[in-house]
Order: sequence, then C-alpha cells, then structure tokens
Amino acid sequence: MRHTPDFSFAPEPVARYSGLAITLHWLLALLVIGLLGVGVWMTGLKTSPTKIAVYGWHKALGLTVLALAVLRLLWRVHRPPPPLAESIPAWQVALATQAHRAMYTLLLAMPLSGWLQNSAAGFPLTWFGLFKVPALIARDKAAFAFWQQAHEWLSWALMALIVLHVLAALKHHYLDRDDALKRILPWKP
Ligand code: HEM
Repeated sequence: MRHTPDFSFAPEPVARYSGLAITLHWLLALLVIGLLGVGVWMTGLKTSPTKIAVYGWHKALGLTVLALAVLRLLWRVHRPPPPLAESIPAWQVALATQAHRAMYTLLLAMPLSGWLQNSAAGFPLTWFGLFKVPALIARDKAAFAFWQQAHEWLSWALMALIVLHVLAALKHHYLDRDDALKRILPWKP
C-alpha cells in the first residue's frame, strides 16, 4: 500500500493576482500618491521656470496614470482577480467591490479632470515633450474654473479613499490574518 503524506497542517497556497496586475497596482500607487503630494505642493509655488517644469511633469505623469489605469481595467477583464478568502463576510466583499469601483472611477476621473482643466485653460500639452496631446475641449473661462475645482475636489476624495484602502488592507493582514494583502504583495509570502 502506498503511503500518503498528511497535508492537513500544510497552509493553503495563496491565490495571487497576476504579475502584471501586481506591477500595475504598485506602479499606480507610487505615481498617484506622488502626484497627490506634488499637486498640493506645486500650486503654492511662485511663478518660475521650476514651477512650469513641475507642472509639465505633473501633467505628463498624470496622463501616464490614465493610460496605466485603462490598461489595468482591460487586464482585469482578461484576468479577473482571484477569489477572496471564504472567511471574509459577504457584506465586506460587497463593500470592497464598491470601494474598488470607486477607486477605478477616481483613477480615471482625476487625470481626465486635469486634462479638461488644461484644455479649457488653452495651455499646450505634451507627454514629456515627446508628442503633443490634443485638447479635449475649447478654451473657456467658466469651464476652466469648473474643471479646476473638480480636479481639487476629486483629489480630496481620492486621498480619503486611499487612506480607507490602506487601512482595510492592514486590518485584513494584522487583525483578520487573511490573504487579502498577501495576494497583491510584490514578493511571495
Ligand atoms: C492621477 C492623476 C493626477 C493626480 C492624482 C493629480 C493631483 C493633483 C492635485 C492634488 C492637485 C492640487 C489641487 C489643488 O489643491 O488645487 C493638482 C493640481 C493640478 N493638476 Fe493634477 N493630478 C493628476 C493628473 C493631472 C493631469 C493629467 C493634468 C493635466 C493634463 C493635471 C493638471 C493639473 C494642474 C494644471 C493643476 C494645478 C491647478 C491649479 O494651479 O490650481 N493633473 N493635481
């Protein structure tokens, strides 16, 4: 008779996100948190060549976020996230789904509002000086004021959502001790 080893004490392997999803998650996190900080800081700068350069970088990196967020969404359709642990109650899964939807909405709305603001101001826009980015709308004072305000309010909403997102991840990891955070860590736990 063959001997079957007892696996009952071996931990279940963590069902992780795909490598591309993990890379995009941390790249977007780095870019978005950086852009939020730089955005708040740069608006207080006095007009100078430095301010103009920082604004240019902010806009180009913001457009990069838009492209990466679209890529992430397309990839998510192709490779849906791994299922969450069964220990997580249904209401928490539903809440996480809504929070993630809100995050994707803001990841698109944030750069789009910046792009619309820049278009309404009539400022030229390039991606790191490599190619011209067309205006989305015509130059218009009222539209500029609207999109400038929208960009600022959306940034507060995004900051609040990021704080909740991080707190939820830490709660799952340290209090509930489930795999929610481990699934997206760049290294294998
Ligand atoms: C995820 C992407 C982005 C984030 C997180 C972000 C974040 C921010 C934040 C926090 C501010 C300061 C808001 C304030 O206090 O008034 C700001 C300002 C600004 N952003 Fe963005 N931004 C993004 C993308 C873009 C894009 C794509 C553009 C343009 C193409 C843009 C153009 C601007 C401009 C022109 C300002 C200055 C507004 C002013 O001078 O009042 N942003 N951004």
